[in-house]
Amino acid sequence: MNNFDLYNPVNYVFGKGQIAKLSDLTPKNTKILFAYGGGSIFKNGVYQQVKAALENYEIVEFGGIEPNPKYETLMKAVEVIRSEKIEFILAVGGGSVIDGVKFISAAVNYEGDAADILRKKILFKEGANVIPFGTVLTLPATGSEMNSGAVVTINATQEKLTLGGSALFPKFSIVDPTVIVSLPKRQLQNGVVDAFTHVMEQYLTYPHDALLQDRFSESILQTLIEIGPEVVENPSDYKLASNFVWSATMALNGLIQKGVPSDWATHMIGHELTALYEIDHARTLAIIAPSLYRVMFETKKDKLAQYGKRVWNLTGSTEEVAEKAIEKTVEFFHTMGMKTKLSENADNYEKTADFIVNRFEERGWKALGEKQNITLEKVKEIVEMSY
Ligand code: NZQ
Ligand code: ZN
Repeated sequence: MNNFDLYNPVNYVFGKGQIAKLSDLTPKNTKILFAYGGGSIFKNGVYQQVKAALENYEIVEFGGIEPNPKYETLMKAVEVIRSEKIEFILAVGGGSVIDGVKFISAAVNYEGDAADILRKKILFKEGANVIPFGTVLTLPATGSEMNSGAVVTINATQEKLTLGGSALFPKFSIVDPTVIVSLPKRQLQNGVVDAFTHVMEQYLTYPHDALLQDRFSESILQTLIEIGPEVVENPSDYKLASNFVWSATMALNGLIQKGVPSDWATHMIGHELTALYEIDHARTLAIIAPSLYRVMFETKKDKLAQYGKRVWNLTGSTEEVAEKAIEKTVEFFHTMGMKTKLSENADNYEKTADFIVNRFEERGWKALGEKQNITLEKVKEIVEMSY
């Protein structure tokens, strides 16, 4: 097992009715920016619950953070915080609102061009001068409620880039599984597939000595396979909803990646598809992951076989089980409503592989994956296989 530091300071508050605890969790005598997305919170009662819990607070509202949050929108919130002298941010929404707030938190006191936070991948370590924030999660998928990473799109150049660092963990996150009832089926499907792929990125590498982490990962995958198809049909079933939400958090709160190799190439390539075609994040992963497993078969076949045996109960030789495991994964994505080819999700896609390869080359991303052997040639092959 590799050495690791496990640091996660998020006060994670889970369960029915927990939004009422906001008044205990939010610092007193503090002016707050209440940040949200396109307005779903007005229709499902979350806005009203937040306002009721914070009735004695001075609040400035900032709505309109879009899915795949845009740098240009977020900079408007940065201006509001500076001019209104706001000291705490409350993010109420899915991964996009929470990620957007992480960027806002980092950008307010950043000296220099805030786009550099993304382009130069500035790391915000503990002690950095950021604005503290808490979250109320409304969409289980990204794990953003319990991690310190974020993804932001610069609209002007169609670049989807990451930021993060230990200063960007939420102070608290309130996660009430009943809020998923109002989610459209498409977003529920996305949530399951995003969480599933987060586990795969940290698990599907090569056999190693971190036995417990493998078992953690396999149990999250099994839980998502068990509840995923049902929860999208019946999100008001609390047993299904609560297990879904907790699985999505556990998939990307840092725990399962400790001491193990990880990949993340599916995400890096997938982000480009969202930047180019506005395909939902999870759907880009369902397009790229199967091709990546096939192109990188030699590197990944032993772990694919472990996954096939333990998660899908498959039998046969290493190669056979590994092959069948990829097919099972694709079937699962289809069950979850994914269309796993780029041609089913975008028009005029024929030059996508060349475009992505050029971009990666410009950024110096020439070796991705757990063994750094996903070269630009492999990226091209993976994307072309996904057409
Ligand atoms: O904007 P509103 O009106 O709130 O509507 C949203 C949005 O249209 C809606 N929604 C959210 N909660 C709802 C709801 N509708 C009804 N009822 C509710 N309870 O759902 C739509 C999608 O929301 P969004 O926040 O965009 O979805 P998601 O949580 O999947 O976040 C996706 C973003 O997170 C990034 C992705 O790249 C993408 O930009 N990621 C962040 C990660 C992280 N921070 O660790 C890791 C992930 O891999 C991912 O890259
Ligand atoms: Zn993801």
